[in-house]
Amino acid sequence: MLDINNIRTGYGAINVLWDVSISARAGQLTTIIGPNGAGKTTLLRAIMGLLPLSQGEIVYEKKVIDGTATWNMADLGVVMIPEGRMIFRDMTIEENLMMGAFPKQHRAHAQRNCERAYAMFPALHKRRHLLAGTLSGGEGQMLAMARGLMSDPRLLIIDEPSLGLAPVVVNELFETLKQLKAEGRSIILVEQNTQMALALADQVYLMQSGKVVFSKPAGEVSLSQLQDLYFGR
Ligand SMILES: Nc1ncnc2c1ncn2[C@@H]1O[C@H](COP(=O)(O)OP(=O)(O)O)[C@@H](O)[C@H]1O
Ligand SMILES: [Mg+2]
Repeated sequence: MLDINNIRTGYGAINVLWDVSISARAGQLTTIIGPNGAGKTTLLRAIMGLLPLSQGEIVYEKKVIDGTATWNMADLGVVMIPEGRMIFRDMTIEENLMMGAFPKQHRAHAQRNCERAYAMFPALHKRRHLLAGTLSGGEGQMLAMARGLMSDPRLLIIDEPSLGLAPVVVNELFETLKQLKAEGRSIILVEQNTQMALALADQVYLMQSGKVVFSKPAGEVSLSQLQDLYFGR
């Protein structure tokens, strides 16, 4: 579904990703793990067209998409839920959701998608007229996910959704991811919670210092093996 082929990119003169190749298969959850500063967010930004490539290409459903403007990615069925959630605190929950339906072709289905989001996240429905700034961290993450779903994406790209959440909320979050996968959505998940990510993933990539150092089907890798690699033991 998505093939990242041998890309290099970075910020201005500073190169961050070195010859990175990653494939995400349709209907699968692909997880990318690795320490802080490994280049995971940079990779997601490159997919979303926020950074120009100096080498390689990004192919989505057999079309080269690098160079596609970020605001056109939702039209292709690709949505990113960024690190830090980026919700509008001074808008209501429902207004935040409607922002996710901003691209023209999604507006017609906004009501239906909104109802679907509420069915998935009943806590948001109860508070739909409250300001998003009143939500807890976990609810804020749910809102960010719900907003991402408003354009009915086929590929969801999620950056560290469990960051800063209490363990019980992290469990809920992974239940939601499981449900999204069961709906047939493809997911690229960047996570620090290796154990949870591994349990749900089909394919695992480990990044370090801007490179992919390890890639395997999730069923063939154990947590301890991954941790040994992760910590360089
Ligand atoms: N906006 C930026 N400008 C310059 N360098 C950046 C920027 N964002 C990230 N970096 C650098 O790129 C590297 C990878 O960062 P990042 O992709 O955020 O890693 P990760 O998400 O794996 O923690 C780091 O060395 C970081 O300092
Ligand atoms: Mg990051």
